[in-house]
Amino acid sequence: MKINVLLFILVSAGLYAADVTQRDISTVMKDAMKGDASLHKKVATGKGTPADAAKLLDYVKSLPAESPPEGDAASWKEKTAKLIEAAQAVVDGKPGATSTLQTAGNCKACHSEHKGK
Ligand code: HEC
Repeated sequence: MKINVLLFILVSAGLYAADVTQRDISTVMKDAMKGDASLHKKVATGKGTPADAAKLLDYVKSLPAESPPEGDAASWKEKTAKLIEAAQAVVDGKPGATSTLQTAGNCKACHSEHKGK
C-alpha cells in the first residue's frame, strides 16, 4: 500500500517535469519572439488561439532560470516575472491582458539592459 502511494507520487512528478521544457534564451527568442508572425506577436495582438497563449507561457517560463549575457540579476528576474505574469493573464482570459503582454514583452526595453553586444 505505502509503496503504491510512493510510486504514484514518483510517476506524477515525472510526468509533471516532462510537461515543462527548459529552453535557453536564444531558443525562446528565435522560436517565440522573433518576427512579425511570432507566437508572442500573435498572442499580444489578440490574434492567438488559447493554445498559442499556453505555448507562449511555456516558452517564457524558461527565462528566469537562464542567465542573460548582460545586466543585473534582480532586473532580469523582475522583467521575466512580468512577462510570465502577462502571458498567464492572457491564458486566464483577464481583461487587458494582451496590452500588458505587449508592454512586458517590449523587445528594446529588455535587450538594452540584458542582451549585450
Ligand atoms: C525579458 C527580456 C527580453 C524580452 C522581453 C525580449 N528579449 Fe530578445 N533577447 C533577450 C536576451 C537576454 C537575449 C540574448 C540571448 C543570448 O545571447 O543568450 C535576446 C536575444 C534575442 C534574439 C537573438 C537570438 C539569437 O541567439 O539568435 C532575438 C532575435 C530576439 N531576442 C528577439 C526578440 C524580440 C523580437 C522581442 C520582442 C517581441 C524580444 N526579443 C523580447 C531578452 C529579451
